[in-house]
Amino acid sequence: MEFKNILLSVDNEIGFLTINRPKVLNALNIETLKELQAAIQEVKGNPAVKVLIITGAGEKAFVAGADIQEMKEMNSIAALTFSKLGHDTMKMIQDLDRPVIAAVNGFALGGGSEIALACDFIYASENARFGLPEVTLGVFPGFGGTQRLPRLIGKGMAKELIMTGKMVSAQEAFQMGMVNRVLPQASLMEETKKVATQIAGNGPIGLRLAKMVVNSGFDIDLAEACSMESMAFSLCFTTEDQKEGMKAFAEKRKPSFQGR
Ligand code: CAA
Repeated sequence: MEFKNILLSVDNEIGFLTINRPKVLNALNIETLKELQAAIQEVKGNPAVKVLIITGAGEKAFVAGADIQEMKEMNSIAALTFSKLGHDTMKMIQDLDRPVIAAVNGFALGGGSEIALACDFIYASENARFGLPEVTLGVFPGFGGTQRLPRLIGKGMAKELIMTGKMVSAQEAFQMGMVNRVLPQASLMEETKKVATQIAGNGPIGLRLAKMVVNSGFDIDLAEACSMESMAFSLCFTTEDQKEGMKAFAEKRKPSFQGR
């Protein structure tokens, strides 16, 4: 499918989804969110993609938030529809049956931070800036920031960012536990690709179930979550990949996983 505001490519089992509106720092308008959904759907239907990397076009921004020009004209019903579109998009990223890494290459503000938070983990360039500046616009985060950020870094730290609307550096975001690694801008994609390739070599069914169990288990009580883990773990033993992975270990060779 052709996109206007998104670039989508695949190289060596790694999918690259780039939000591409550099003139407005890759801000998310309705059209871009819809394209993002279509792109995720396309990745979902393409088994050649083992891991997806989401990034922003250019060297200045990952995504500078929802498109303020478009939002400023909205009434409350339009805002509800917009927020729902954003939430559905974030959920599609979160629920994609393969690992998704955010490679944050610059400003990740508002909806930009919210996209990164919907990914499985975040790598950032040294020049990246994170923040939820919505309160400075008279609103507050509407694409899941009030929910995913506290779950990742704790309520107090999240409320400080949400209530001040301040930006933090990649290093500060790392110290808060929001970002896994901070890398020089020039090596962000290379290093992210290396890790994506390492992940792509692992058993896809194990990866898929692990993601599901971590995500679903987080919001329920520990006993129930552990029992869900046992069920999903045992499911792996119905697969050829489990046989292959353990046989390869015994034979001291690299496994060749088929995803079945
Ligand atoms: N929406 C629309 N346009 C945006 C934008 C956004 N979120 N962010 C930047 N732009 C546009 C600017 O208007 C500017 O366009 P013009 O050249 O036509 O004037 C262009 O991108 C370049 O931006 P700046 O000139 O402002 O660049 P800068 O380097 O001076 O500042 C910045 C960079 C600090 C990121 C600043 O652009 C900024 O503060 N942007 C808005 C950030 C923001 O508030 N994001 C939250 C949006 S609300 C939201 O996301 C709600 C939600 O949860 C769903």
